[in-house]
This record gives sequence, structure tokens and C-alpha cells, in this order.
Amino acid sequence: MKSNIEIQRIEKSKIDSVDFNNLPFGSVYSDHMLECTFTNGEWQTPVIKPYSPITLDPAAKIFHYGQSIFEGMKAYKDAEGNTMLFRPLDNCKRLNKSAERLVIPQIPEDIFMDGLKKLLEVDNAWIPTNDGSSLYIRPFMFASGVGFHASPADGYKFIICTAPSGAYFAGKVKVLIEEKYARAANGGVGFAKAGGNYAAQFYPTQLAIEKGYNQVIWTDDNSHEYIEEAGAMNIFIRINDTLITSPTSDRILDGITRKSVIQIAEDLNIDVEVRKISVSEVIAAAQSGSLKEMFGAGTAAVISPIAGFGYQGNDYDLPELDAPFAETIKKAITDIQTNKVEDPYGWRVII
Ligand code: PLP
Ligand code: COI
Repeated sequence: MKSNIEIQRIEKSKIDSVDFNNLPFGSVYSDHMLECTFTNGEWQTPVIKPYSPITLDPAAKIFHYGQSIFEGMKAYKDAEGNTMLFRPLDNCKRLNKSAERLVIPQIPEDIFMDGLKKLLEVDNAWIPTNDGSSLYIRPFMFASGVGFHASPADGYKFIICTAPSGAYFAGKVKVLIEEKYARAANGGVGFAKAGGNYAAQFYPTQLAIEKGYNQVIWTDDNSHEYIEEAGAMNIFIRINDTLITSPTSDRILDGITRKSVIQIAEDLNIDVEVRKISVSEVIAAAQSGSLKEMFGAGTAAVISPIAGFGYQGNDYDLPELDAPFAETIKKAITDIQTNKVEDPYGWRVII
């Protein structure tokens, strides 16, 4: 492994053209990107260079066989101007778990971590400071090696791009519980952050949007009786004062926000149950009034309260609470992420 990082700086920054008070999610890109190529059986020297298009051979296997994985992370700045990441090694480990499943070479931890830290140093001015905004980080790997033979490629790219971003959802989210389509199956790639998982979600999500919902709640592929995830988020359901979330599996992404929520909730003395939760249990709770909250949890969406859900042609609204768990937990997590409170867990990495 070549641990040096080559740096080619942009001639003129485009930062002055960005309105940091009105940031969309993930569609304005910082000046630089990190690129590292895997060829001849090894990762080459990573390069930080001006953000720019990449040229690929039309026979690159990414286009034909979809060997492509990614991560989602955020960088934050505190009041003193320190730059922070949240549990970044977990993202690196998960990327390599996804890589193993898609037969993509492992990215060495030092290329990932040193490369990311260097990139954040070079583009430090791009990390937003206003509340609710952050620098969204998108590390990804894909097959750049060529061939129509349906087998793993011999060349890959590891790239990190960043985008100063505001909220993923504008307001509360309305979701549709899925009865027909599935995002993942046992033995499949649902636990991996494989690009194809998201492509497969677009069609059912589009149908849900046409019906007036923002997102789909994925149910198990076999019976569609159990609730698994909410769009690109893990899901939490509060019945009375207990917070329930499904266990991770082949089909469910092991979310870093999810495991942080579980830890924080337990430490706030909230009862947390990690167990299968059926649609019928949620409907019964909605009808009896014991269903108090539902929220999605993920890096991009942070904690996103769900306002209501649809199932079999009926709509169910969630109550407006004065002090929802979602708010308390969101504050606890974002306060750790942005260095406003002590971090008893060692999750925050100041760089
Ligand atoms: N589930 C899916 C399918 C996702 O794409 C994401 C987003 O990363 C999550 C859950 C949440 O994971 P994390 O909290 O690690 O971002
Ligand atoms: C994230 O939460 O970082 C994700 O990767 C979700 C993404 C599909 C926007």
C-alpha cells in the first residue's frame, strides 16, 4: 500500500457561489475529491484533486454488472471551529463488509481514514457551521475494470466526494407500508450498501409518491407481515413508552444511527426492544391509541419523525406529542456529533 497522498489543489475555489443558508441535500459539491485506483492487484497512491468528471471505458463492469457500493457520513464543525466525524471507522468497516459481498477489494483503513481526514483539511471551509447543516460525505467504490464476462472486474476506483448539505427531508414524513415489493431477501445484499439496492427501491417508492407518500416502509420479502426499514433509514416504533426496532439481518442495513439511538435511548432509561414487529401489531396499536411515535434513523435523514402511514387503503395519523422521544434522542445524538456535550461513548472523532 502506498500511504502518501498526492494533492492537486484547485486554482480557484467555487465556494463563493454557494449559499450556505439555503443548502439542499447532496447536490452542491466541494472543490476537491479523493480518488484511489486499484490496479495490478493493489491500491495505488490516493490523489486529492479538483472535483471533476471521471472517464470510464464503456465496458467497465460497473455499467453492466453493478459492482458498486457506497457509504454515507457527515462532518461537523463546533463553535470553536473544530472538525468532527461521527464513528467513522464503523463506516470504513461497513464499506469493507459491502465490498466482500460484492467481490470488490478491501479498502485499507489508512487510505480511507487518512484520505478522508486530508480531504476534510483541504476542503475545510466547505463544512457548514449553521445548525442542521453539515458536510455530507460520500465514499464509494466501483468496478472500473472492463469486460462483458459476468465476473468480478480486475480494476476498481475508491472515491470520496463531499457536499455541504441541509436537511434530507423538508418536514415530517408520510410513509406507505409496502405489501408487494421488497428491497431485500434472505441471502441477498440488503445488509450491504450496494447501489443496486437503491435502484430497486425507486419503482415502488415512485408508486408510493404518486399516492401522496414520501417513502416506503419495507416489510419482509416473504410474508410482508413484518416491518423492516423506512426508505433509506432504519425504523423505530414507539408503543406506549417502549421503543421497538427490528433486529438487523441479511435484509436490513446495520445502521450506525440505529445502534447509536438504541444506546442513547437505553441510557435515557427508555425501554428498547430489538425484535420483530408486525404490521398487525402496529395497526392494532394505532387503533387503540398506544402507537405514540414512528421515526426513521440514518446519517442523511438523522432522526426523521413520521407523521402518518398508509396501509391497505387506510391512513393512520400519529399523535402530535409535546416531548417526543424522537426529539430528545435527536438532540442527544446531534449534541454529541457537534461537540456540544461530553461524548461518553467515544463516538466523536475530532480531526
Ligand atoms: N437503511 C438503509 C437502507 C440506508 O441506506 C441507511 C443509510 O445509510 C440506513 C438504514 C441508516 O444507516 P446509517 O445510520 O449508518 O446511515
Ligand atoms: C445515508 O443516510 O447516508 C444514506 O446513505 C442514505 C442515502 C441513500 C441518502
